[in-house]
Amino acid sequence: MRTSLKVINVASVPQRSPFRYPGGKTWLVPYVRQWLSAKREKPEEFIEPFAGGAIVSLTIAFERLAESVMLIEKDEDVAAVWHTIFNARYGKWLADRIAEFEFTPDRVRVELDTPRYRLSLRERAFKTILRNRVQRGGILAAGAGVMKEGENGRGMASRWYPETLRKRILAILEVKPWIRFEQGDGIEAIRDNADRPEVAFFVDPPYTVAGRRLYTYNQINHQELFDILAGARGDFLMTYDDAKEIRQLAARHRFDTELVPMKSTHHAQMTELLIGRDLMWLRAPGRNAELAAQGALQICLDLPGVRR
Ligand SMILES: C[S@@+](CC[C@H](N)C(=O)[O-])C[C@H]1O[C@@H](n2cnc3c(N)ncnc32)[C@H](O)[C@@H]1O
Repeated sequence: MRTSLKVINVASVPQRSPFRYPGGKTWLVPYVRQWLSAKREKPEEFIEPFAGGAIVSLTIAFERLAESVMLIEKDEDVAAVWHTIFNARYGKWLADRIAEFEFTPDRVRVELDTPRYRLSLRERAFKTILRNRVQRGGILAAGAGVMKEGENGRGMASRWYPETLRKRILAILEVKPWIRFEQGDGIEAIRDNADRPEVAFFVDPPYTVAGRRLYTYNQINHQELFDILAGARGDFLMTYDDAKEIRQLAARHRFDTELVPMKSTHHAQMTELLIGRDLMWLRAPGRNAELAAQGALQICLDLPGVRR
């Protein structure tokens, strides 16, 4: 399947998340901006039911593209981070804990070996960020290994930027009044908000194939998700891998689809499937020019100098 859309430059998208999230959607941010700006009214709430690193939602909050933002995530470790920042009022503590941590491979091992049941919520948050930063690909699921070579010979520390992470968390605290977080099930969250026409759902579920090794929770009922979105009164934008099963579900629900190009962290050009009720905003004349204006053309999440 071919697509005429151009690859977008993520170097132009401010990195807001403390995570380097596998399957993260930094590259999609310009599309989401385009989607929301084509609406007559700002959504009352922007809901991301499978939040992960939440780069899209954070951007929406920073740029005030919705009146408020709601994140939902099931994974207990990822949730510990968002709880600590948004609900438990320990965001500043977490920022300082990261900045003050004396990073040596031995200390990292000791931190990561502590059994989770012995940890307070905020310590669990710290260890989640640490693990996310030292494990290959940022993968938190069981079985993921620690980086050995890393980049520029920095080994395990090659993605540990304590001062940058501290600043990102402090910046998130500035927009905290607009964001709420709930640990829970994404499909249930959509169901709970299905009768609200004034909300917009950004839906990035674990993928049918790749999700298995990336996430602790990687099985959802895709058919159920499509059914619930079909009945929701608010608009939605969903992103998936281009799998036959997913295209069939989209066709059966009469959803609109479009393939968009992206670059993987391994620099390979790939495509992803965007799904919505009506993706006309994506095909409007001049759309490519507008998206391109948001940054230079070729992107890669791993360009030197682009800190994830
Ligand atoms: C593709 S990732 C989301 C990435 C995110 N959009 C980003 O840019 O970082 C899917 C996420 O869904 C979460 N997840 C899996 N099953 C879930 C469920 N039933 N409810 C909520 N979250 C779930 C996974 O833990 C993972 O964080």
